Amino acid sequence: MNKFFTLILISAFSIIPAVLQAQTDLEIALYSNEQLIYPERTDEWIHLGSSLGSEYGDKPFNSAEPGAIGVVQIEPAAYRYFLEHGEYADGTMFLLSFYSAEAESAPQLPGFVQGSMNAQEFHVIDSGRFNEGRGFFLFPPTAAPGATSAKVPDGSECVECHMAEAAYNGTFTQFYPTIRHLIGD
Ligand code: HEC
Repeated sequence: MNKFFTLILISAFSIIPAVLQAQTDLEIALYSNEQLIYPERTDEWIHLGSSLGSEYGDKPFNSAEPGAIGVVQIEPAAYRYFLEHGEYADGTMFLLSFYSAEAESAPQLPGFVQGSMNAQEFHVIDSGRFNEGRGFFLFPPTAAPGATSAKVPDGSECVECHMAEAAYNGTFTQFYPTIRHLIGD
């Protein structure tokens, strides 16, 4: 093989990994001193699923006081990547927001609607950044874009439950109608 082709081959092999890296790391989760920065425009994130009374506790479900309504969203670029590739890119972010379940809706509906938001939790998939392949972050309901929060330390109950019970890559896709049909059993 002459030098020209050797050079082309070497360049090709050094470019391909860089391109793959660029495609699989979305660079949408931003950090400041290892703390997650609360992202802009979470109102534009894709809705994956909602749940009622699924706070993490052992209390039996009480239909008169059903607890919180949990709403799960995924960041839009991460969602598109997932649709195209069938897996999560590094940097994929999920947001779970807890709302109080309000029965006082007018005109009176027989059920419950979303009241005030009481807590927000993020799950960020990133095998390059986190030892456990993911990071969990808690924010208060008042958090605005730009607010920061430290990662829940390794070995947490968040990681423990998610890795033991969730259907796909530590995420509860079995409860997300938007994407659950896309995950093979
Ligand atoms: C006992 C099990 C359990 C524990 C512990 C737990 N989760 Fe979850 N998590 C769930 C379930 C079930 C869902 C599905 C959504 C729902 O039902 O509200 C979920 C969904 C989520 C989601 C939406 C994306 C996803 O991964 O499916 C985030 C974000 C999240 N949890 C954050 C946290 C954080 C942060 C902690 C720790 C402070 C935590 N979770 C601890 C069970 C758990």
